[in-house]
Amino acid sequence: MSSTDFDFHNVPVANEFGMKRIVIVGASSGIGLALAEAFASRNIPVGLAARRTKPLEDLKKRYPSRVAYAEIDINKPEAVSRLNRLITDLGGMDIYIHSAGIGFENLTMEPESEAHTIETNTVGFARMISSAYRYFRSKAKRGQIVAISSVAGTNGLGRLAAYSASKKFDQTYLVALEQLANSMNAGITFTDIRPGWVRTPLVMPDKQYPFEMTVEYAVPLIIRAIVRKKRVAYIDWRWALVAAAWKLIPDAIWTRVSTSVVTPDKQLPLDIRPDLNRSL
Ligand SMILES: NC(=O)c1ccc[n+]([C@@H]2O[C@H](COP(=O)([O-])OP(=O)(O)OC[C@H]3O[C@@H](n4cnc5c(N)ncnc54)[C@H](OP(=O)(O)O)[C@@H]3O)[C@@H](O)[C@H]2O)c1
Repeated sequence: MSSTDFDFHNVPVANEFGMKRIVIVGASSGIGLALAEAFASRNIPVGLAARRTKPLEDLKKRYPSRVAYAEIDINKPEAVSRLNRLITDLGGMDIYIHSAGIGFENLTMEPESEAHTIETNTVGFARMISSAYRYFRSKAKRGQIVAISSVAGTNGLGRLAAYSASKKFDQTYLVALEQLANSMNAGITFTDIRPGWVRTPLVMPDKQYPFEMTVEYAVPLIIRAIVRKKRVAYIDWRWALVAAAWKLIPDAIWTRVSTSVVTPDKQLPLDIRPDLNRSL
């Protein structure tokens, strides 16, 4: 989906955000891009970041007075100073939205693929969320930190081991920061958005997913949860039910369940033959 074929007239942003300034990291594609478009088209100032800046530049052209953007790779230490510069360019930040993330099925358990997912979804995640937290604390400012985690963080998923484990990390990290913020009366609120499958470039174009949602359907629900400062929001209600049932399954049973994710299903590899010379 391009950012221009999106109709946001039914998105419930209206005046709820007032003159709040929103930073979105992971704004070049999918959910982050749709959120950026929804806010900018409703006169809300946004600071946008990702590694690919072309979609951000396009939004800046369409909403020049409302968009600031920066190239940020959350896996690099300089992401912190770049985020702070972006916040300055925007004139401050009231809401931080973390949408950056990656995920792949890794049936052969290719180690570098696992490491890359975990680096982006946990190390990069913590780098950026802690930076947003420090910004609010340094300004003694009330603020909201929003992260798009996933229903996949409910428990380990065999075909998405790194992804599901990393999303669990994200959810736990938000709980930890909330406890820290509360102990200091910091006035920072946390919103953990847990979508089921959404048709974005993250999912495989030739496969069907269970209870799959369009961006047009999911993003207004996400915005509503942010406006209402929900602590945890499953997107949508069907996934709330799935997660509630899933949490009741003991690991001894869960580990015996075959969790195919896509239709048509991917073939499970019968064996994996590592290069023994290399691994010795
Ligand atoms: N789609 C789903 O079914 C689904 C379901 C549940 C949760 N989620 C979560 O929702 C979030 C958004 O996913 P999406 O579906 O919108 O996927 P997407 O279209 O692939 O967008 C992912 C975004 O993350 C950014 N990103 C990835 N690595 C980055 C890095 N190292 N530094 C900075 N930005 C980086 C990408 O920007 P660049 O590549 O330009 O850097 C892009 O803007 C992810 O955290 C995902 O796990 C998605």
